Amino acid sequence: MTEPSGARPAESTAPEAADGSPASIAPRASRLALIIPTYNERANLPSLVAAVERALPGIAWELIVVDDDSPDGTAALARDMARADARLHCLQRLDRRGLSTACIEGILASTAPVVGVMDADLQHDPALLLPMLQALEQDEVELCIGSRYVQGGSATSGLSPGRQRISELATRLGSLFLKSRVSDPMSGFFLLRRNLFEECMHRLSGKGYKLLLDILMAARRPVAFREFAYRMRPREHGETKLDSLVALEYLLLLLDRLLGRVIPARFALFLLVGLSGVAVHLAVLGTSFRLLDSGFEFAQVLATICAMSSNFLLNNALTYRDRRIRGLGLIRGLLSFYLACSLGAVINVMLASTVFAAGIPWWLAGLIGAGVASVWNYAVTSVLTWNRIR
Ligand code: GDD
Ligand code: MN
Repeated sequence: MTEPSGARPAESTAPEAADGSPASIAPRASRLALIIPTYNERANLPSLVAAVERALPGIAWELIVVDDDSPDGTAALARDMARADARLHCLQRLDRRGLSTACIEGILASTAPVVGVMDADLQHDPALLLPMLQALEQDEVELCIGSRYVQGGSATSGLSPGRQRISELATRLGSLFLKSRVSDPMSGFFLLRRNLFEECMHRLSGKGYKLLLDILMAARRPVAFREFAYRMRPREHGETKLDSLVALEYLLLLLDRLLGRVIPARFALFLLVGLSGVAVHLAVLGTSFRLLDSGFEFAQVLATICAMSSNFLLNNALTYRDRRIRGLGLIRGLLSFYLACSLGAVINVMLASTVFAAGIPWWLAGLIGAGVASVWNYAVTSVLTWNRIR
């Protein structure tokens, strides 16, 4: 690519400070960069910024809103606010969803030696920001965690009993993989030194919504941490984005860790759904052919359609939860899924027959056909069927 002639920084046009140096190159001296991931949090932004302001008197901080193109216009409001306050920044991401990656990219866009993550909805107590920052700056602490589970903390006001139980179970499961005995590795409220983040950032999975857990797993060594009790408050505006299925994303994160990067967790899930499709197929085939006495061909066609439809719906609800198709888009999605899988079936049969004819045992030939078709289906439907976010 050729560089446009005006691409160099426009030094000559920058306003000049009293000593003649461009004012725009005054050093940025933030001690803390707060990353606020948002999805439809417009109504919460003004009070959040006011609360942070109150909580950090006399401290140089910056705040980065990382918004995944919220339909309610959170990013536009964040930019408006940033025009009036140089400490505020907005990073808007298009065609993306994901709490962890939003936080990671926000941290990477910041410069302060201490970085933190907090919900936009004021469920986390901003009063802890100052003691957390001080601990990180003055003590031998690398990580400060707002915890619902240490003495004085509580989650009861924030979560439904169901989510509460899932959250506790996930916490216990997650602790099995950690070198640091933290009480609330699922917390969405924590501050850490940038050094620690940079030490492990290349090993982060970024999957799901549990960045803290991800960091603790990527650290590969015990981390010097301190926990701060807080009561999770009820949300002021809007609703939680994390439904019960986030537990699934969390399992994907663990799976991803366990399998390394050999099999992407999403593909593993796609295969599991495929296996469930085999069961659906056989059930429908059996019912139609044996019980209802339909002809075999009819039964086989019906079973195929049922299996493909159930695969589509399950993949939509689980495997591609983050890109879930809703409403009328489901019809288009279903049709494209049928199309991709039919081609997959043709490839399957042709390949299996070819290798079988070449003398490979029948079961291996069948597996090769099915295996290649699965990869084909996965690759094609991920682009064709689930390419759109909304
Ligand atoms: N950019 C972006 N992209 N932000 C998101 C996304 C996304 O896909 N999903 C959610 N968020 C934002 C929300 O707007 C909110 O500011 C924050 O991430 C957390 O989402 P909530 O919907 O408020 O989650 P929660 O309150 O149910 O759960 C929170 O507290 C738990 C307990 O500490 C989260 O912080 C969890 O991570 C945490 O485990
Ligand atoms: Mn929240």
